[in-house]
Amino acid sequence: MINFNVDPQKCTRCGACVADCPSRIISMDDGSPFIPPEKEAGCYRCQHCLTVCPTGAVSILGLDPANSRPLTGVLPDAGDMELLIKGRRAVRRYKPENLEPELLQRLLDVACYAPSGLNARQVHFTIVDDREKLALLRDDIMRGLGKLIKENKLPPGLEFFADFYRAWEEHGIDILFRGAPHFLVVSAPQSIVTPVEDCLIALTTFELFAQTLGVGTVWDGLAKLAINDLLPEFRTRLGIPEEHTVGYAMAFGKPAFTYARTAQHGPPPVHRMA
Ligand SMILES: Cc1cc2nc3c(=O)[nH]c(=O)nc-3n(C[C@H](O)[C@H](O)[C@H](O)COP(=O)(O)O)c2cc1C
Repeated sequence: MINFNVDPQKCTRCGACVADCPSRIISMDDGSPFIPPEKEAGCYRCQHCLTVCPTGAVSILGLDPANSRPLTGVLPDAGDMELLIKGRRAVRRYKPENLEPELLQRLLDVACYAPSGLNARQVHFTIVDDREKLALLRDDIMRGLGKLIKENKLPPGLEFFADFYRAWEEHGIDILFRGAPHFLVVSAPQSIVTPVEDCLIALTTFELFAQTLGVGTVWDGLAKLAINDLLPEFRTRLGIPEEHTVGYAMAFGKPAFTYARTAQHGPPPVHRMA
């Protein structure tokens, strides 16, 4: 039941909802927009009808358009967005403190707005929200790595994990999580159309928004390899559902420093079709 409702007092019959529906299931005929019952199954719950309506006449899924944030004239300008994107860096030095729970929740609440294939919205965020918990996890993963190394069981191509283990054991240098207080794994059911893509887009969204709140992030391919490939028992310990594909991992927290300027990249390799 998708609860598509149109307020006849507010609807101007402009047709915007009809034109913008990606599955083209909204009809107008002579009266208000409506979705024939036999077409309801075609709705993929994207809320385009609710968000495109200029007068706030359309409600779907029981959602009141008055609870959406207005967008006209309030979006960040291009210069600010450009600076945010160009100023983002992989952060590898962190303050030894937890993020405030409200801040962490806000990051996740915004990251879940990232687009997903067929609007599946199935990306699952597995969070280590406390630095003490991450310290225990790291200790146990390092111990697991130590055992693999001792038993000569590091798979070909991943022997370099022995260096990370030694850095930790001998010098207390944490290359796996970069000393971050928090860790996030995004995963999604293997059964959806674009599980990995959805996860990567969610993490990218998380990372960019995190910056605006003074939170640093680092994509954590090493921890992902350790957890997902080398020591899969940690997938279970983290509580990642068995039927999920792990999309990626990210460590994050308050940076122990700030970057003074942007890097200088480009030009991008571009091929224009002849
Ligand atoms: C998919 C991916 C995996 C990464 N894995 C790691 C990692 O395991 N450890 C690490 O310190 N940095 C990791 N990074 C960070 C990259 O090294 C970093 O993004 C790159 O050097 C560019 O630096 P910048 O992000 O500061 O612009 C990863 C980045 C990406 C995109």
